[in-house]
Amino acid sequence: MLSLKNGLLGFLFTNSLLFIFISFSSIAFVASASPVYPESPERRAVTSQYDVVIYGNTVAGLAAAVQTKRMKKTVAIVIPGNTLGGLTTSGLGWTDNKKGDSIGGIAREFYAKIYTYYQSKPTWKYETRAAYVAKKVGAQPGIAIDETKKVQWTFEPKASEAIWEKWVKDGKIPVFRNEPIDRSGNGVTMNGTTIVSFTTQSGSVFEGKMFIDASYEGDLLEAAGIPYRIGREARNEFNEPAGGISINLPGKLSTIDPYIEPGNNSSGLIKGIQQVINDTAAVDGQSDPYSLQAYNYRLSFTKTAANRKPFFQPADYNESDYEILLRYIESGYKGPFFTSQLMPNLKTDSNAAGQVSTDLIGGNYNEESNYIEDSYEQRAVSMLAHKLYTQGFLWTLVNSTRVPQSIRTAVNAWGYSKDEFVSNDNWPYEIYVREGRRMNGLYTMSQSDIQQPQTAFANDSIVGLGSYYLDVHQVQRVLVDGKIYDEGHVHIVTTKPFAIPFNSLIPSAEYATNFINPITMSSTHIAYSAIRMEPTYMILGQSAATAAIMAIQQGVSIQDVDRTNLTARLAADKQVLSL
Ligand SMILES: *[C@@H]1O[C@H](CO)[C@@H](O)[C@H](O)[C@H]1NC(C)=O
Ligand SMILES: *[C@@H]1O[C@H](CO)[C@@H](O)[C@H](O)[C@H]1NC(C)=O
Ligand SMILES: *[C@@H]1O[C@H](CO)[C@@H](O)[C@H](O)[C@H]1NC(C)=O
Ligand SMILES: *[C@@H]1O[C@H](CO)[C@@H](O)[C@H](O)[C@H]1NC(C)=O
Ligand SMILES: *[C@@H]1O[C@H](CO)[C@@H](O)[C@H](O)[C@H]1NC(C)=O
Ligand SMILES: *[C@@H]1O[C@H](CO)[C@@H](O)[C@H](O)[C@H]1NC(C)=O
Ligand SMILES: *[C@@H]1O[C@H](CO)[C@@H](O)[C@H](O)[C@H]1NC(C)=O
Ligand SMILES: *[C@@H]1O[C@H](CO)[C@@H](O)[C@H](O)[C@H]1NC(C)=O
Repeated sequence: MLSLKNGLLGFLFTNSLLFIFISFSSIAFVASASPVYPESPERRAVTSQYDVVIYGNTVAGLAAAVQTKRMKKTVAIVIPGNTLGGLTTSGLGWTDNKKGDSIGGIAREFYAKIYTYYQSKPTWKYETRAAYVAKKVGAQPGIAIDETKKVQWTFEPKASEAIWEKWVKDGKIPVFRNEPIDRSGNGVTMNGTTIVSFTTQSGSVFEGKMFIDASYEGDLLEAAGIPYRIGREARNEFNEPAGGISINLPGKLSTIDPYIEPGNNSSGLIKGIQQVINDTAAVDGQSDPYSLQAYNYRLSFTKTAANRKPFFQPADYNESDYEILLRYIESGYKGPFFTSQLMPNLKTDSNAAGQVSTDLIGGNYNEESNYIEDSYEQRAVSMLAHKLYTQGFLWTLVNSTRVPQSIRTAVNAWGYSKDEFVSNDNWPYEIYVREGRRMNGLYTMSQSDIQQPQTAFANDSIVGLGSYYLDVHQVQRVLVDGKIYDEGHVHIVTTKPFAIPFNSLIPSAEYATNFINPITMSSTHIAYSAIRMEPTYMILGQSAATAAIMAIQQGVSIQDVDRTNLTARLAADKQVLSL
């Protein structure tokens, strides 16, 4: 109950309306019966105790577990699903980082392991390593395979999965799979400000001295009653030029007719437009307590006949759902419709590209709730909607007679890679949650921390560098004066890596003294858009575990970890703390 009360404070902090919506969704969850995650018959509820308990399936959690073992403490990873590696195993092989030298520690070891994995001949099934090297793929952190530094930045999902599985096996790190945390409001037991344990839906109880929330969503954060935000801060709240609701400049979509019956504004809007805005000045820069930037699936495509599963018509397909895409094409847009960054073995990591793509804009929230606050059942419904949308999007591109033959042929050259996500029908295991909750921590990163990075923080340690642009995918499509505009899309190039302080990973001591949060950390929506990258998550995961163990060793709360010692240990463990 205590944790619920604190959690509500978090909601109230953002918006009192949201409080009402969330109350409803929690009730819906309690009342709902059908479990989303499969019950494995052999699983029995367990009670286990560890020095450090990590919740969530991300590379932050994995790096934290590896670090905990290295510091000779006991650790367990508890994950809601079955497959290790988060997005690195669910399609994201196009490593998001603009300067490879900003990546040190365990994160760098991961990219070195990728390099080593691809030294082995059997991993090259559809091309040779030499052929891939010859393409000189310019990945984001540097050349895809860096023979001098012995790191590789591009990889297939199954390579990542194999590496993480071996890493936890070799490290004897216990992984509890299919153990979603109990989100009913009683999932966390506290003694004062100390988290004693959390419980999963199976009834298993995980006791620990320190807890790390490494979930994309921040489900342990919420269950522990630590305040957080969802959505977007107002522009003036942290003095962020890119902040708040912001209608983007007109694009090609502004030239298409938005009405079901072209020219007839009483016939209704075609699908994919979230709202009509009559008074743009009234909304510009305002906060938004529930909308989320678009999610999608990161897809693995190939043109190799032997490995290609053609795009197909999904269940409940109706071409009229893709009217916005068809009109976009009819207005002259010729592509690309998705990215096709080359991973090894003639496969892609395909992300959204263009205004109508694999991002299901507006698909992860409505006026009442959003993906993050949704129950597990509602999340599953949303995941399915994203999947069917994406399959139908690709099918429309290859099948609709309204799509020019040249585009149909070009898209149809691709198909799903048959040798990826094999236990999931060649579909990524996880949806790409680009942003979840954001804790209200001791320090909140904001836009200026990304664009004018600090080189030191008063009485605090730098726990890692991030290196990415400000990058928010569209939050919504809106209609203004009869024209369609994207809303909330931010793409601002930055020139150098930025420092992340320890205080942005921890809450105030009044909420929890043994909790640390490397993913859903304390940041504005805008700053988070540059932080939210897989290598950065690994870096922060390692630092989180280091601090957690120092707190145990020093017998202090997480807030009181000696910062000088923390910095020294991170540096000794090859974290890059300045450039
Ligand atoms: C709570 O913590 C206090 C102080 O550490 C301890 O004395 C007490 O036994 C704990 N209570 C429970 C129920 O564990
Ligand atoms: C709809 O179209 C009519 C005729 O062009 C116009 O008078 C009216 O203002 C439009 N209404 C809206 C809501 O755009
Ligand atoms: C416009 O659409 C409305 C609603 O479907 C319909 O009643 C009306 O007849 C249409 N107007 C024209 C001119 O087709
Ligand atoms: C915008 O204007 C239309 C037509 O004037 C009206 O029907 C609608 O309610 C207005 N929307 C808002 C959010 O004010
Ligand atoms: C497709 O959707 C349109 C518009 O909602 C509807 O009129 C049509 O009946 C649907 N077609 C099928 C096959 O369900
Ligand atoms: C689209 O798919 C339908 C159903 O499979 C098929 O009958 C039709 O020939 C396809 N059209 C094109 C242009 O490929
Ligand atoms: C840093 O610590 C010093 C000494 O304890 C203190 O005087 C100062 O106020 C602290 N600064 C901040 C920004 O917390
Ligand atoms: C910090 O590290 C120094 C040197 O290793 C050690 O002597 C000291 O006890 C440490 N301080 C704390 C609070 O652990």
